[in-house]
Amino acid sequence: MDGLSLRTFPDDCLRKRTEPVTEFGKWLTDVLREMANIMYLNQGCGLAAPQVGLDKNIFVTDVDDDLCFFVNPEIVERSADLEAMDEGCLSLPGVTVRVKRPARIRIQAQDSNGTSFFRDLDGLAARAAQHEYDHLNGRLIIDNLNPIQGFIAKKKLMNIKASADGAIRTCEVVCNARKKDRGRT
Ligand code: CO
Repeated sequence: MDGLSLRTFPDDCLRKRTEPVTEFGKWLTDVLREMANIMYLNQGCGLAAPQVGLDKNIFVTDVDDDLCFFVNPEIVERSADLEAMDEGCLSLPGVTVRVKRPARIRIQAQDSNGTSFFRDLDGLAARAAQHEYDHLNGRLIIDNLNPIQGFIAKKKLMNIKASADGAIRTCEVVCNARKKDRGRT
């Protein structure tokens, strides 16, 4: 599949709300495969459709070598206890934000064939899924910052964008020691 490429801030597609997937078939499996390729190429552990310019309810994750496709996901349960972790985002190179999220979630979604499933997630898998789910609603980790922190983060992003070295140096939701061996956070 041609035409999918990683979009970075301030690309408009990152702020669009996505639409449900209603047609299942080859186009979807192609998109999911291409999204997984882009995620791996950039050493991320998750990627949502808006990050490749698609306004569809789709994201992929790979935590602990477990590649998962989520089509039309809904988070149906969230634990009351919250955990704070530093998160990065492939669309926000060089920015890390500490984000508090429910430690465990139950997510309902469809697979590439349209079959519904539930998954109970915790740890980094829960973190990654919630981060990607936010992308489907146009939410980014910089939205968790206070206005001054947000201004600094955006300025930093603009500087990175302006620099000659456009290489992506950060990983999607790379937060803790478990991921340190994969490179920088
Ligand atoms: Co992200």
